[in-house]
Formats: sequence, structure tokens, C-alpha cells
Amino acid sequence: MATDRVLVFDTTLRDGEQSPGVRLSVQEKLEIGRGLVAMGVDVIEAGFPISSPGDFEAVETLAKNLKGVTICALTRARDKDIDVAAEAVKAAESPRIHTGLGVSDNHLQFKLRMSRDEALATGVAAVKHARQYTDNIEYFMEDSGRADRDYVYRVAEGVIAAGATTVNVPDTTGYAYPEEYRSLIAGIMENVPNSDKAVFSCHCHNDLGMATANTLAGVLGGARQVEVTVNGIGERAGNTSLEEVVMALQIRADYFHVKTGIDSTRLLPMSRLVAKLTGMMVQRNKAVVGANAYAHSSGIHQDGVLKERSTYEIIDPRLVGAEKSEIILTARSGRHGLRHRLAEMGFNFTEERFELLYEEFLRMADTKHEVVEEDLRTLVG
Ligand code: KIV
Ligand code: ZN
Repeated sequence: MATDRVLVFDTTLRDGEQSPGVRLSVQEKLEIGRGLVAMGVDVIEAGFPISSPGDFEAVETLAKNLKGVTICALTRARDKDIDVAAEAVKAAESPRIHTGLGVSDNHLQFKLRMSRDEALATGVAAVKHARQYTDNIEYFMEDSGRADRDYVYRVAEGVIAAGATTVNVPDTTGYAYPEEYRSLIAGIMENVPNSDKAVFSCHCHNDLGMATANTLAGVLGGARQVEVTVNGIGERAGNTSLEEVVMALQIRADYFHVKTGIDSTRLLPMSRLVAKLTGMMVQRNKAVVGANAYAHSSGIHQDGVLKERSTYEIIDPRLVGAEKSEIILTARSGRHGLRHRLAEMGFNFTEERFELLYEEFLRMADTKHEVVEEDLRTLVG
């Protein structure tokens, strides 16, 4: 089976920065942007230029300074937004304008107060307006996850005919389940007559904890762009996590038959940088980049991993930029783990002496969350 390329569209600086409590300066955005380019993302959504002078400046700065990547700016389906966004990205090597409008009846009725036909006409007009600045136009069909399918097909057909080259299918509220989202993407590709003229993009939110699963399902349905954020930061429960999707596609290439252009060894340093600059700490058990992701504490697991890493690890930690797997000593650890850690510290004992130490170790471990190197030194006296 042919291996397709999936484009990675990073929206850490736009949707990610919309996380409550997060504010990044222009310099911080540039630092993250440089890291994203080095990591190999295809598109950076740098901001929403009309929203504030600071956001305009950030988008413009990234457009001027970052090479080898598409710089994208978000707009509503309004001429003024589009004009401002076009100005902000105009210096980019490859500028993109990302415009769009809601498609669910909920958004049409309560937010936009428009009929379906009015919203479609507004979206088509926005794409035509944006086309005077660039032919790299992405259209977002907001809240596609809760929208009527036939209407979604009509909108996709209309905006592609007007010149959109990427069509974003957001599950804005994190409502969809993987099979639904896969069939939404597949349905668009099958039922929209001009679907071969656009790339379809997954943009998922994590309200029900499904963002990564839905994005991967969208890829199975035929989408060839994924919209993600570092550490999955974003509105409410967040967006799809970049590192989870990239590693799932890499580790399960046998299943997905696609590849990205990401250098996975940069994932952990990038995760740490974004956590530091945003103040959004990563939970210890977070997939791929959490502090515990390559740490083993139970005796059975330690024994397996020390004999052969693949017994309990499907990702070699070096693939994501981590140094190595860790053996964490707790009251659940066994002799093999303790001996390994002592040997790492340069200690080797006779069997008899080791047995005595192991008993002392267990007594100590019962009183602590973790037995650390300092404790081991106390133990060996
Ligand atoms: O979640 C969403 O629908 C969005 C769009 C603005 C792309 O972030
Ligand atoms: Zn979003």
C-alpha cells in the first residue's frame, strides 16, 4: 500500500494560546515558531491578526522570520478580517489565510443568526475575497461534528469551487466519536463532487477525551492534514496533541500507512519549551511526553524491561528525545530493579549482602513515594 504524506498544521500559537490563562509574548511565539520549524511542521497557524495589535505583530514577525514553512492567519468570514490577515502574512515565504464560518444548526441559529443559505453565501464570498491575496486558502466549517451532513457537503463543494484548497472539518465541541468522525471525512470525500481539488483537515477538541482518536480516525477516513497543538493545549479541555498523533502515525505506520515530516526526537524538548513558556504543566502520565511515559516502577515490569525493553515499551524513549527508560524504585519494585539502580551507581554486592539490603530497601520504600539515589546511598551506608 502507498504511504501518503500527512501535513502537520500546528495551532499552538493560535488555538493553543486560547487556553484560559495563557499569554505568549511576540518573542516567545517566535521562539516556539523556530522550534516548530526545526521539528518539521508544515504549517504554523501564528494567530488571529484582527483580534489585537499584539497578535497582528506576532503573525507578522513569524511571517518575516520563519522560512521553510507555511504561515497561516485565522479570520472570520469578514472582508476586514481577511484584509488584516493578508497584511500580517504577506511577507511569508508561503502565506495562508484560514477563514470560515459555522455549519451546525446550533451555530447558525444561536451564534450567527443566519440561514444555511446565507451562511454558505457568506463563506463563499469570504473565500473569493481572500483569493485576491493568495491562492493558499483554508476554509473551516466550524462545528462540523454536530452539523447536518448534507449541508456540510454543500458547504465543502461551494468553498472549493470558490477557491479553497484546504477544507478544515472541525469537531469544535469535541462531540464526535472516532467512527463518526472517520465517516464524516470519508463522506465528504465521497459525496462532494470536487473533493479531489482540496486537502481535508482534522481539527478536533478534547471535551470527551477523543481528540487524538478522532484525528487519527479522520486520517483513516482520508484526511491528509492534522491540526494539533504541542501538549494538546487549547480551549477548554484542549486540542489534539501533536506528539500523540505524530507518534501514533510513526509507531503504527503498519496500520495507518502514512507519514509526517516531523523529526520525533524534537518532541520532548518542544513539549518542555511550550510548558515553560505557557505555564501549562504536562501531567506526569501524559502519553509520549509525560515524565512517567518511560518510567517503570513495578517489579514485574522492571524485570521485563531490563531483560528486553520492548516487553513493556512500544516507544523507544530516544525516538522522542528522552535519554532512556527509567527504573523508579518504589515498594512495588523487585530485586532486579534495585540491583540495576545500584549497579548504575557503581555498587555491586555479594548475594548475601544484597538480600539484606533488599529487605532494608523494602522497609524504607513502604514509607516513601519513591526511593531516590540519595536514599540508596543512605541504605548502603
Ligand atoms: O475549533 C474550531 O472550530 C476552530 C476554528 C476556528 C478552526 O478553532
Ligand atoms: Zn479549535
